[in-house]
Amino acid sequence: MGDPCDITSDQIWEDQRAAYDAMRSRCPVAHDGEGTWTVLRHAEVVAAATDPGTYSSTVTARRAIPNSLDGADHAAFRAIVDRYMTPERVAREESQCRAHAAAIVDALPRGSTVRTVAHLGVPFAVRTQSAWLGWPPDLEDVLVAWMADNHAATRSGDRERTAAVAERFDAMIQGLLEARREAAPDADVTAELMHETIGGRPLTDEEIVSILRNWTAGDLGSIATSIGVIVHFLATHPEEQDLLRALAVHGNAAALEAAVEEILRIDDPFVANRRRATRDAELGGETIPAGARVILNWTAANRDPLVFPDPDTFDPARHAADNLVFGIGPHVCPGRALTLMELRVVTEELLRRTAGITLSEERPTVRETPPVGGWARVPVVLR
Ligand code: HEM
Repeated sequence: MGDPCDITSDQIWEDQRAAYDAMRSRCPVAHDGEGTWTVLRHAEVVAAATDPGTYSSTVTARRAIPNSLDGADHAAFRAIVDRYMTPERVAREESQCRAHAAAIVDALPRGSTVRTVAHLGVPFAVRTQSAWLGWPPDLEDVLVAWMADNHAATRSGDRERTAAVAERFDAMIQGLLEARREAAPDADVTAELMHETIGGRPLTDEEIVSILRNWTAGDLGSIATSIGVIVHFLATHPEEQDLLRALAVHGNAAALEAAVEEILRIDDPFVANRRRATRDAELGGETIPAGARVILNWTAANRDPLVFPDPDTFDPARHAADNLVFGIGPHVCPGRALTLMELRVVTEELLRRTAGITLSEERPTVRETPPVGGWARVPVVLR
């Protein structure tokens, strides 16, 4: 008999969420026998995420700003990032988001199969993020193609391929910086970022590219995937769909954002983030050795019955305080308000402009391939 806390990739391959549910009931912290420790239980994920001294975010040689930084270095860059995502700035983006959502939803066919992620999620994510950053509309196709390649590279697990795709993205952003060398700081968000300083010196191009990579590269994908999860939930939960349509029609923004966050808790597509143990540490009955790779699994923690007794029950009010979709601790997602506004607006426009959403009978839904979470395909029919 193997160690009950050994995690095998076969189980994860079949159904990630179910595999983590089964694993977490036996082990708060699982391991693969090769130096990687996966934290699955809510209490332990919170403990590790809020103890950056023991669980460092510096996990690779490549510097990702602010994601891979620790301590004072992280705090200094994080202060810059936070200034771009305040409630006032998010509110300013709402009308362009709504216009994009409305146009995309109106262009979708009624009565025949719609591919949610490809035809709603991806175009909405790319258009709204490009508009926010002040990027030209003709870059949209390049970004869509890049997202597909990035996704494929991530799924392949081939690090060289992933690095090559990342370099292509950096070159594209570098081109956008060149075009803004003489621009005033108020020209657009990208130009504004180019005028930031840290410790009295300007940010380097490398730092600006890294910040922009984190605002787009991963996040375009997570917004598109989240739309897949939300639409799948609506199509498979007719009562909640009616409830949310009523909230959309009455413009109840706070309740809709709480609903979106709860739907993502039940089926969290942003599966995990990495850490590195800086010293030997006890967690969930296991001893994690200094230097070990540690994975904080948000998807598993968000379904922990010790905190959410019936994890599949949709109950935003009851579950909000413990929801970990956007993380916790010093690296908690700075893009939460922006993301929730974008996802609310696209959900509102979809619900207002349709009378019903059902799963297509012609094509099957398809789960994403680990390590990516959520759904690759959510074919639906709109009425
Ligand atoms: C559904 C969409 C999203 C989800 C579920 C999500 C989730 C998360 C989570 C769980 C973390 C914590 C990472 C950690 O602890 O290591 C995080 C960090 C981060 N997120 Fe998001 N995020 C989303 C969208 C966005 C967007 C749209 C942006 C920017 C425009 C963004 C920017 C960031 C950045 C910069 C960090 C790193 C923060 C730091 O290290 O201090 N996220 N996100």
